[in-house]
Amino acid sequence: MPDSPFYATVESRRTVRDFLPDPVPQEVLDRCLDAARLAPSSSNLQPWEFVVIRNTDARQKANAACLNQIPAKTAPVLMALVTHRDTWRRNRDEIIRVFETRGPLRKSHESYYRKIIPMVYMTGPFGLLGPLKQLFSRIASMFKPTPNLMARSDIRVMAHKSTALAAATFMLAMRAEGYDTCPMEGFDPWRAKALLGLPRGAEVNMFLAVGKRSDKGVWWDRVLMPRAWTVREL
Ligand SMILES: Cc1cc2nc3c(=O)[nH]c(=O)nc-3n(C[C@H](O)[C@H](O)[C@H](O)COP(=O)(O)O)c2cc1C
Repeated sequence: MPDSPFYATVESRRTVRDFLPDPVPQEVLDRCLDAARLAPSSSNLQPWEFVVIRNTDARQKANAACLNQIPAKTAPVLMALVTHRDTWRRNRDEIIRVFETRGPLRKSHESYYRKIIPMVYMTGPFGLLGPLKQLFSRIASMFKPTPNLMARSDIRVMAHKSTALAAATFMLAMRAEGYDTCPMEGFDPWRAKALLGLPRGAEVNMFLAVGKRSDKGVWWDRVLMPRAWTVREL
C-alpha cells in the first residue's frame, strides 16, 4: 500500500478484544464522533445515533447484553450504535430547513425531498403499502430502470447500511488518533433495545468497544480472502 497516513491507519486498524484501562479523552471521542457524522448516508438522511454508555448500572447491563464478551468487559468506553428507520421525516425536514437558510430551495431539491423521498420511504399503516410498492417497482423495472420503492424491510436495510458506514468512519478515526475498537454484533438485540429505551423503528446496529489495545488485544493475524473472490470487473 502507498506510504501515506491514510493507508497506515487502514492497515493498522484491527479488531481489538482486550483493552488497557487507560481512559479515552473526551476530546478524542468527540473528534471521532464528529468524523463519523460526516459519513455518507442514503439521501443524506443520517439514520444513526451513537450512544456512549457512561452510567455504571447501564454499563453492567450493556456488558451482559453483549454476552459479556471480553472487549465489552475490558474497554474503557462502550458505545451502542443505533440505526433509526423512524427518523427519515424529521431528518428530511431538517435538510430542507438548512437548505432554506442558504437561499431559495432549488427545484431539484424541492422535488427530491418533498416528493421522491416520501414516495420511496412511506410504507402506509402497518407497512401494508410496502409489498404493493415493491411489486409495482418490480413490474416497472421490466420496462425501464426503476428505483426500489421500499417496503419496511428495505428501509431497515437502507438504515443499517448507512449506519455501518458511520461505524467504519468512527473506527478509522479512532485508529488515526492512536486508539482501537471492537465492533460487536454478538449481542442480545431485545435486551439492548430495552436498555437504551429505543422506539419501535430503531434498533442497535452494533456495539463498539473503544480504548487502547493491550499487548494481547489482537487475537489473530489477518486472514484475507483471495483477491479474485472479492474484486472483479465486468
Ligand atoms: C458487523 C461486525 C460485527 C462483528 N461482531 C463481532 C463480535 O460480536 N465479537 C467480536 O469479537 N468481533 C466481532 N467483529 C469483528 C470481526 O470478527 C473482525 O472484524 C474480523 O475478524 C476481521 O478482523 P479485523 O477487524 O482485525 O481485520 C465484528 C465485525 C463486524 C464488522
